[in-house]
Amino acid sequence: MPGKFITFEGTDGSGKTSIIKEVERYLKVQGYKVVTTREPGGVSISEQVRNVIHDVQNTEMDPVCEALLYAASRRQHLVQKVIPLLKEDTIVICDRYVDSSLAYQGYARGIGIEKVKEINEFAIDGIYPDLTIFLDVDPKVGIERIMTHQLSHEVNRMDKESINFHEKTHEGYLELVKMYPDRIKKVNGERSIKEVAFDCFQLIKEIL
Ligand code: TMP
Repeated sequence: MPGKFITFEGTDGSGKTSIIKEVERYLKVQGYKVVTTREPGGVSISEQVRNVIHDVQNTEMDPVCEALLYAASRRQHLVQKVIPLLKEDTIVICDRYVDSSLAYQGYARGIGIEKVKEINEFAIDGIYPDLTIFLDVDPKVGIERIMTHQLSHEVNRMDKESINFHEKTHEGYLELVKMYPDRIKKVNGERSIKEVAFDCFQLIKEIL
């Protein structure tokens, strides 16, 4: 497909939203056609699935059910939004994609990276990002950021997990960086928005 598919990953509170906004601005100034979107969500059906997964009342949700729902939401978003944009030569920047499932459900929930990858391969049909940027932030710093900005950020069922869960997710991401060194690039996210966005922009330029 003529477009480019770029995904951002990180533990909760790693600053993806702010960095994506800044990167989008840089790319648009350079004249690129850019659309930003997010997972789980991005289109109506996927947003509805998001509400089910993240509802703080759904404490009894089984981990495999959770992984399947993320994959289902991903599938709908991919076919309804991402693929049509890529066919139109657009740069699609997505806040989370398959690596979130591998790190959160596969590694941190303990289902296993390979098992969760299998479910997701059915959903994504070989469509992997051209580039994935992992914003590396100490999970404790991330959770503190979320708690400080609680008023402007939905605090969902995943945010309410223990710090141990967020530490495991972080370890999961580091594992993925080792497994896919060509696709996933790690960027130190504990710096100013400008500095982090600059590094991301350099990586993006290499694939354009
Ligand atoms: P966010 O919109 O604040 O990034 O929240 C999404 C939450 O959902 C975040 O805690 C990560 C989690 N998540 C998974 O556990 N697996 C997934 O596949 C995706 C896309 C998100």
